[in-house]
Amino acid sequence: MNTTHTILTGDRPTGPLHLGHYVGSLRQRVSLQHQYRQFILIADLQGLTDNGSNPQKVSANILEVMADYLAAGIDPTKTMICLQSALPALAELSALYMNIVTVARVARNPTVKNEIAQKGFSRALPVGFMAYPISQAADITAFQADRIPVGDDQLPMIEQTNEIVHKMNNLTGAPVLRHCQALLSPVSRLPGIDGSAKMSKSLGNTLLLSASEQDIHRAVSAMYTDPDHLRVSDPGRVEGNVVFTYLDACHPDPHKVAQMKAHYQQGGLGDRACKDELENCLQTLLAPIRARRAQFAGESDALLALLKQGSEAARDITQQTLDAVKRGLGLPVLW
Ligand code: TRP
Repeated sequence: MNTTHTILTGDRPTGPLHLGHYVGSLRQRVSLQHQYRQFILIADLQGLTDNGSNPQKVSANILEVMADYLAAGIDPTKTMICLQSALPALAELSALYMNIVTVARVARNPTVKNEIAQKGFSRALPVGFMAYPISQAADITAFQADRIPVGDDQLPMIEQTNEIVHKMNNLTGAPVLRHCQALLSPVSRLPGIDGSAKMSKSLGNTLLLSASEQDIHRAVSAMYTDPDHLRVSDPGRVEGNVVFTYLDACHPDPHKVAQMKAHYQQGGLGDRACKDELENCLQTLLAPIRARRAQFAGESDALLALLKQGSEAARDITQQTLDAVKRGLGLPVLW
């Protein structure tokens, strides 16, 4: 175990996790937990920032996400899985950081800008949503995490976190907060099965980790390929061909995928054969995850107990960071 680095990742619990989460992040976390101290935050408060009027969407998914983690191979004796709303120090740190970040700076965050446009908030933009990068900076710094495995859409959050670290350390005259850096995943985003840029539940183009054999079969059959590849003997296009994107992300044998690509581009390899190969690979990948997940169905007490255990450990660590910041700012720490 290498203790020089601390890893933190988080997910908004707004739906069950899907294959995109697995290849983009979960898979990497499963291997990181054997090498480093690792925390995973179920970011329910962040989930509420765009679901303020629909809290059930968040509350109903906390244990779903917990079950997905365990099913995917996150080991709660190695990784501390904790709940954001159970850690008051995170909210208190956010409140302190809000005073050293300008409105103009949050408004400039490109990920937030995109999300605001996508979600069509227009005039009904919640203050909490606008400020979520600050809350995320509180998450990261509270754990003294210095390695953050994320997709490229989260890079602006890391940048903003480091600005806060820099300012706060200057202000307090001591290194109370730790700088962090992103660990970019080799596969940063899996497109939806229809080829659109992102898997998303609202677009109905996801493949859930809990997908049944039938679901997997249907998803692969419906998958977008090269629309100009009409006959098996025609040369086909690999770029933008979702079947190959998924094979790249999921197939255990990259050499075999490279051969298939060459054959497809040359002509003579049919879409059906490619889809069969992909379906096999996905069935093999997801079967054990689905089986483990089924064991947690109806076990909400056990899931909650594990979440409590991870959150208890996190409470002390995050409180220590808050106390250090308060002291640095000259605020009395009464308890
Ligand atoms: N913003 C992240 C997402 O939407 C979730 C998140 C919350 C997070 N807190 C975090 C990620 C801290 C990394 C570190 O996926």
